Amino acid sequence: MIGPKIYETVAEMRQAVDAARAQGKRIALVPTMGALHEGHLSLVRAAREHAGHVIVSIFVNPTQFAPTEDFDAYPRDSEADLRLLAGLGVEGVFMPPAEEVYPQGFATAVSVGGPAEGLESATRPHFFGGVATVVTKLLLAALPDVAVFGEKDYQQLCVIRRFVRDLDIPVNILGGPTVREKDGLAMSSRNRYLDADARRTAALVPQVLSEAIDRLDAGEEASTVLADGTARLAEAGFSVDYLELRDAETLAPVDPNGTSAARLLVAAKLGKTRLIDNMNVARPTAGWR
Ligand code: PAJ
Repeated sequence: MIGPKIYETVAEMRQAVDAARAQGKRIALVPTMGALHEGHLSLVRAAREHAGHVIVSIFVNPTQFAPTEDFDAYPRDSEADLRLLAGLGVEGVFMPPAEEVYPQGFATAVSVGGPAEGLESATRPHFFGGVATVVTKLLLAALPDVAVFGEKDYQQLCVIRRFVRDLDIPVNILGGPTVREKDGLAMSSRNRYLDADARRTAALVPQVLSEAIDRLDAGEEASTVLADGTARLAEAGFSVDYLELRDAETLAPVDPNGTSAARLLVAAKLGKTRLIDNMNVARPTAGWR
Protein backbone atom coordinates (compact mmCIF):
# COMPACT_ATOMS: atom_id res chain seq x y z
CA MET A 1 0.00 0.00 0.00
CA ILE A 2 1.48 3.36 -1.00
CA GLY A 3 1.10 5.79 1.86
CA PRO A 4 0.12 9.42 1.47
CA LYS A 5 2.78 12.10 0.89
CA ILE A 6 3.56 13.95 4.10
CA TYR A 7 3.90 17.72 3.89
CA GLU A 8 5.46 19.50 6.85
CA THR A 9 5.56 22.96 5.30
CA VAL A 10 3.01 25.14 3.56
CA ALA A 11 5.41 25.41 0.58
CA GLU A 12 5.53 21.61 0.11
CA MET A 13 1.76 21.32 0.30
CA ARG A 14 1.22 24.20 -2.16
CA GLN A 15 3.59 22.59 -4.62
CA ALA A 16 1.63 19.33 -4.47
CA VAL A 17 -1.66 21.20 -4.81
CA ASP A 18 -0.35 23.11 -7.87
CA ALA A 19 0.82 19.86 -9.48
CA ALA A 20 -2.56 18.18 -8.86
CA ARG A 21 -4.42 21.21 -10.27
CA ALA A 22 -2.19 21.18 -13.35
CA GLN A 23 -3.49 17.62 -13.92
CA GLY A 24 -7.04 18.97 -13.76
CA LYS A 25 -7.77 17.58 -10.29
CA ARG A 26 -9.98 19.19 -7.69
CA ILE A 27 -8.55 19.51 -4.19
CA ALA A 28 -10.29 18.66 -0.90
CA LEU A 29 -9.03 19.37 2.61
CA VAL A 30 -10.16 17.62 5.79
CA PRO A 31 -8.76 19.41 8.87
CA THR A 32 -8.29 17.24 11.99
CA MET A 33 -6.33 17.05 15.21
CA GLY A 34 -5.53 13.37 14.63
CA ALA A 35 -6.35 10.36 16.84
CA LEU A 36 -8.54 9.49 13.90
CA HIS A 37 -11.73 7.46 14.22
CA GLU A 38 -14.59 6.49 11.95
CA GLY A 39 -16.10 10.00 12.26
CA HIS A 40 -13.00 11.56 10.71
CA LEU A 41 -12.78 8.80 8.10
CA SER A 42 -16.38 9.43 7.00
CA LEU A 43 -15.34 13.02 6.19
CA VAL A 44 -12.37 11.76 4.17
CA ARG A 45 -14.70 9.51 2.16
CA ALA A 46 -17.04 12.46 1.58
CA ALA A 47 -14.05 14.55 0.46
CA ARG A 48 -13.11 11.86 -2.07
CA GLU A 49 -16.52 12.23 -3.73
CA HIS A 50 -15.64 15.84 -4.53
CA ALA A 51 -11.94 15.74 -5.34
CA GLY A 52 -9.21 13.77 -7.07
CA HIS A 53 -6.62 15.00 -4.58
CA VAL A 54 -7.55 14.67 -0.89
CA ILE A 55 -5.41 16.23 1.83
CA VAL A 56 -5.97 15.57 5.54
CA SER A 57 -4.33 17.92 8.01
CA ILE A 58 -3.29 16.64 11.43
CA PHE A 59 -2.41 19.41 13.85
CA VAL A 60 -3.24 19.63 17.53
CA ASN A 61 -3.82 23.36 17.57
CA PRO A 62 -2.51 24.93 20.78
CA THR A 63 -4.49 28.18 20.42
CA GLN A 64 -7.86 26.45 20.82
CA PHE A 65 -6.92 24.97 24.21
CA ALA A 66 -6.99 26.99 27.43
CA PRO A 67 -4.00 26.49 29.75
CA THR A 68 -6.27 24.41 32.03
CA GLU A 69 -7.38 22.12 29.20
CA ASP A 70 -6.03 18.85 27.80
CA PHE A 71 -3.53 20.04 25.14
CA ASP A 72 -0.68 17.92 26.56
CA ALA A 73 -2.88 14.89 27.22
CA TYR A 74 -4.72 15.12 23.87
CA PRO A 75 -4.27 11.70 22.18
CA ARG A 76 -1.59 11.64 19.49
CA ASP A 77 -1.00 8.55 17.35
CA SER A 78 0.33 9.58 13.96
CA GLU A 79 1.43 6.05 12.99
CA ALA A 80 -2.10 4.67 13.36
CA ASP A 81 -3.51 7.81 11.69
CA LEU A 82 -1.24 7.43 8.65
CA ARG A 83 -2.12 3.75 8.32
CA LEU A 84 -5.86 4.57 8.30
CA LEU A 85 -5.36 7.36 5.75
CA ALA A 86 -3.23 5.13 3.52
CA GLY A 87 -6.12 2.63 3.58
CA LEU A 88 -8.41 5.33 2.20
CA GLY A 89 -5.99 6.30 -0.57
CA VAL A 90 -5.50 9.85 0.66
CA GLU A 91 -2.93 11.70 -1.48
CA GLY A 92 -1.43 13.99 1.15
CA VAL A 93 -1.23 14.59 4.88
CA PHE A 94 -0.28 18.04 6.18
CA MET A 95 1.49 17.58 9.54
CA PRO A 96 3.18 20.88 10.27
CA PRO A 97 5.33 21.47 13.33
CA ALA A 98 3.90 24.20 15.59
CA GLU A 99 6.51 26.78 14.40
CA GLU A 100 5.29 26.36 10.81
CA VAL A 101 1.78 27.41 11.83
CA TYR A 102 2.74 29.90 14.54
CA PRO A 103 6.13 31.37 13.65
CA GLN A 104 8.07 33.48 16.13
CA GLY A 105 6.27 36.79 16.57
CA PHE A 106 2.86 35.50 15.38
CA ALA A 107 0.41 38.29 16.23
CA THR A 108 -2.81 37.74 14.26
CA ALA A 109 -6.18 36.24 15.13
CA VAL A 110 -9.50 35.75 13.37
CA SER A 111 -12.34 36.76 15.67
CA VAL A 112 -15.92 35.72 14.90
CA GLY A 113 -19.15 37.00 16.50
CA GLY A 114 -22.66 35.76 15.60
CA PRO A 115 -22.71 31.96 15.75
CA ALA A 116 -19.52 31.91 17.85
CA GLU A 117 -21.31 33.65 20.72
CA GLY A 118 -22.69 31.61 23.62
CA LEU A 119 -22.88 27.79 23.91
CA GLU A 120 -19.22 26.63 23.70
CA SER A 121 -17.92 30.19 24.15
CA ALA A 122 -19.66 30.50 27.51
CA THR A 123 -17.29 27.93 29.04
CA ARG A 124 -14.47 28.06 26.45
CA PRO A 125 -14.12 31.75 25.51
CA HIS A 126 -10.73 31.17 23.82
CA PHE A 127 -11.98 28.30 21.65
CA PHE A 128 -13.44 29.78 18.46
CA GLY A 129 -10.69 32.39 18.15
CA GLY A 130 -8.19 29.52 18.02
CA VAL A 131 -10.31 27.44 15.65
CA ALA A 132 -11.08 30.34 13.27
CA THR A 133 -7.44 31.38 13.14
CA VAL A 134 -6.05 27.92 12.45
CA VAL A 135 -8.79 26.95 9.96
CA THR A 136 -8.27 30.24 8.08
CA LYS A 137 -4.55 29.45 7.92
CA LEU A 138 -5.18 25.86 6.78
CA LEU A 139 -7.60 27.00 4.06
CA LEU A 140 -5.19 29.67 2.80
CA ALA A 141 -2.27 27.23 2.98
CA ALA A 142 -3.95 24.45 0.98
CA LEU A 143 -6.30 26.59 -1.16
CA PRO A 144 -8.69 23.63 -1.61
CA ASP A 145 -11.87 23.63 -3.70
CA VAL A 146 -13.77 22.02 -0.83
CA ALA A 147 -13.15 21.53 2.88
CA VAL A 148 -15.14 19.04 4.94
CA PHE A 149 -16.16 19.40 8.60
CA GLY A 150 -18.36 17.29 10.88
CA GLU A 151 -21.78 18.19 12.25
CA LYS A 152 -20.53 16.60 15.50
CA ASP A 153 -19.05 20.04 16.24
CA TYR A 154 -22.12 21.86 15.00
CA GLN A 155 -21.32 25.31 16.38
CA GLN A 156 -17.81 25.02 14.92
CA LEU A 157 -19.31 24.21 11.50
CA CYS A 158 -21.61 27.26 11.70
CA VAL A 159 -18.68 29.49 12.74
CA ILE A 160 -16.53 28.22 9.87
CA ARG A 161 -19.31 28.78 7.33
CA ARG A 162 -19.73 32.32 8.73
CA PHE A 163 -16.10 33.48 8.51
CA VAL A 164 -15.52 31.77 5.15
CA ARG A 165 -18.42 33.82 3.78
CA ASP A 166 -17.40 37.00 5.62
CA LEU A 167 -13.74 36.81 4.52
CA ASP A 168 -14.55 35.71 0.94
CA ILE A 169 -12.35 32.64 1.25
CA PRO A 170 -12.92 30.83 -2.06
CA VAL A 171 -13.77 27.37 -0.72
CA ASN A 172 -16.91 25.31 -0.57
CA ILE A 173 -17.60 24.12 3.01
CA LEU A 174 -19.27 20.72 3.30
CA GLY A 175 -20.78 19.30 6.50
CA GLY A 176 -20.80 15.54 7.21
CA PRO A 177 -23.29 13.80 9.54
CA THR A 178 -22.21 12.65 13.02
CA VAL A 179 -20.93 9.09 13.16
CA ARG A 180 -22.02 7.28 16.33
CA GLU A 181 -21.10 4.18 18.33
CA LYS A 182 -23.66 1.35 18.53
CA ASP A 183 -25.20 2.83 21.71
CA GLY A 184 -25.55 6.26 20.07
CA LEU A 185 -22.54 8.01 21.63
CA ALA A 186 -21.01 10.38 19.07
CA MET A 187 -17.50 9.25 18.18
CA SER A 188 -14.80 11.55 19.55
CA SER A 189 -11.06 11.36 20.13
CA ARG A 190 -11.81 12.33 23.73
CA ASN A 191 -13.98 9.21 24.30
CA ARG A 192 -10.66 7.45 24.97
CA TYR A 193 -10.56 9.27 28.30
CA LEU A 194 -13.71 7.47 29.56
CA ASP A 195 -13.33 4.44 31.84
CA ALA A 196 -15.80 1.54 31.42
CA ASP A 197 -18.32 2.99 33.86
CA ALA A 198 -18.22 6.49 32.42
CA ARG A 199 -18.39 5.04 28.91
CA ARG A 200 -21.72 3.37 29.76
CA THR A 201 -23.08 6.55 31.34
CA ALA A 202 -21.98 8.61 28.32
CA ALA A 203 -24.65 6.97 26.15
CA LEU A 204 -27.22 8.99 28.11
CA VAL A 205 -26.17 12.12 26.18
CA PRO A 206 -27.63 11.08 22.80
CA GLN A 207 -30.57 9.42 24.60
CA VAL A 208 -31.50 12.66 26.31
CA LEU A 209 -31.29 14.49 22.95
CA SER A 210 -33.50 11.94 21.17
CA GLU A 211 -36.09 11.89 23.94
CA ALA A 212 -36.20 15.67 24.10
CA ILE A 213 -36.76 15.80 20.35
CA ASP A 214 -39.66 13.32 20.60
CA ARG A 215 -41.29 15.51 23.24
CA LEU A 216 -40.75 18.69 21.22
CA ASP A 217 -42.27 16.91 18.22
CA ALA A 218 -45.28 16.06 20.39
CA GLY A 219 -45.73 19.79 21.06
CA GLU A 220 -44.42 20.02 24.62
CA GLU A 221 -43.04 23.33 25.79
CA ALA A 222 -39.30 23.66 25.12
CA SER A 223 -38.40 25.09 28.53
CA THR A 224 -39.93 22.06 30.35
CA VAL A 225 -38.30 19.57 27.99
CA LEU A 226 -34.87 21.20 28.35
CA ALA A 227 -35.13 21.45 32.13
CA ASP A 228 -36.05 17.73 32.35
CA GLY A 229 -33.15 16.74 30.07
CA THR A 230 -30.70 18.81 32.11
CA ALA A 231 -31.98 17.23 35.33
CA ARG A 232 -31.63 13.70 33.95
CA LEU A 233 -28.02 14.32 32.98
CA ALA A 234 -27.25 15.90 36.34
CA GLU A 235 -28.82 12.93 38.20
CA ALA A 236 -26.57 10.57 36.26
CA GLY A 237 -23.50 12.51 37.44
CA PHE A 238 -22.96 14.95 34.55
CA SER A 239 -22.11 18.56 35.11
CA VAL A 240 -24.15 20.20 32.35
CA ASP A 241 -22.70 23.27 30.59
CA TYR A 242 -25.74 23.72 28.36
CA LEU A 243 -28.70 21.96 26.77
CA GLU A 244 -30.18 24.46 24.35
CA LEU A 245 -32.48 24.74 21.36
CA ARG A 246 -31.14 27.14 18.71
CA ASP A 247 -31.88 28.22 15.15
CA ALA A 248 -30.15 25.63 12.94
CA GLU A 249 -28.38 28.22 10.80
CA THR A 250 -27.70 31.33 12.89
CA LEU A 251 -27.64 29.55 16.27
CA ALA A 252 -29.74 32.43 17.64
CA PRO A 253 -32.43 31.44 20.18
CA VAL A 254 -35.37 29.89 18.29
CA ASP A 255 -38.07 32.27 17.17
CA PRO A 256 -41.43 30.83 18.35
CA ASN A 257 -43.06 32.16 15.17
CA GLY A 258 -40.14 31.31 12.93
CA THR A 259 -40.23 28.67 10.25
CA SER A 260 -36.63 27.50 10.21
CA ALA A 261 -35.32 24.22 11.58
CA ALA A 262 -33.68 24.11 14.97
CA ARG A 263 -30.73 22.31 16.49
CA LEU A 264 -30.63 20.87 19.98
CA LEU A 265 -27.11 21.19 21.39
CA VAL A 266 -25.58 19.81 24.56
CA ALA A 267 -22.26 19.97 26.40
CA ALA A 268 -21.72 18.12 29.66
CA LYS A 269 -18.78 16.97 31.70
CA LEU A 270 -18.48 13.48 33.08
CA GLY A 271 -15.58 13.56 35.51
CA LYS A 272 -12.85 15.35 33.58
CA THR A 273 -14.18 14.41 30.15
CA ARG A 274 -16.29 16.98 28.36
CA LEU A 275 -18.77 15.57 25.83
CA ILE A 276 -20.65 17.56 23.22
CA ASP A 277 -23.42 16.44 20.90
CA ASN A 278 -26.31 17.86 18.88
CA MET A 279 -29.23 16.79 16.73
CA ASN A 280 -31.52 18.32 14.17
CA VAL A 281 -35.04 19.22 15.28
CA ALA A 282 -37.76 19.61 12.67
CA ARG A 283 -40.10 22.48 13.52
CA PRO A 284 -43.31 21.16 15.12
CA THR A 285 -46.39 21.91 13.03
CA ALA A 286 -47.78 24.05 15.82
CA GLY A 287 -44.54 26.08 16.06
CA TRP A 288 -42.09 26.31 18.97
CA ARG A 289 -43.53 26.78 22.41
P1 PAJ B 1 -11.15 17.15 15.49
O1 PAJ B 1 -11.85 17.12 16.79
O2 PAJ B 1 -10.02 16.22 15.24
O3 PAJ B 1 -12.23 16.92 14.38
C1 PAJ B 1 -11.89 17.01 13.02
C2 PAJ B 1 -13.17 16.98 12.21
O4 PAJ B 1 -13.83 15.73 12.41
C3 PAJ B 1 -14.15 18.09 12.62
O5 PAJ B 1 -14.74 18.66 11.47
C4 PAJ B 1 -15.16 17.32 13.46
O6 PAJ B 1 -16.44 17.93 13.48
C5 PAJ B 1 -15.18 15.98 12.75
N1 PAJ B 1 -15.69 14.92 13.62
C6 PAJ B 1 -15.28 14.59 14.87
N2 PAJ B 1 -16.03 13.59 15.37
C7 PAJ B 1 -16.94 13.27 14.41
C8 PAJ B 1 -18.02 12.31 14.33
N3 PAJ B 1 -18.30 11.48 15.33
N4 PAJ B 1 -18.75 12.28 13.19
C9 PAJ B 1 -18.48 13.13 12.16
N5 PAJ B 1 -17.49 14.04 12.18
C10 PAJ B 1 -16.73 14.11 13.29
O7 PAJ B 1 -12.56 19.78 15.14
C11 PAJ B 1 -11.34 19.77 15.20
O8 PAJ B 1 -10.58 18.64 15.21
C12 PAJ B 1 -10.54 21.08 15.24
O9 PAJ B 1 -11.26 22.06 15.93
C13 PAJ B 1 -10.12 21.58 13.83
C14 PAJ B 1 -11.34 21.93 12.96
C15 PAJ B 1 -9.24 20.55 13.13
C16 PAJ B 1 -9.29 22.89 14.00
O10 PAJ B 1 -8.16 22.69 14.79
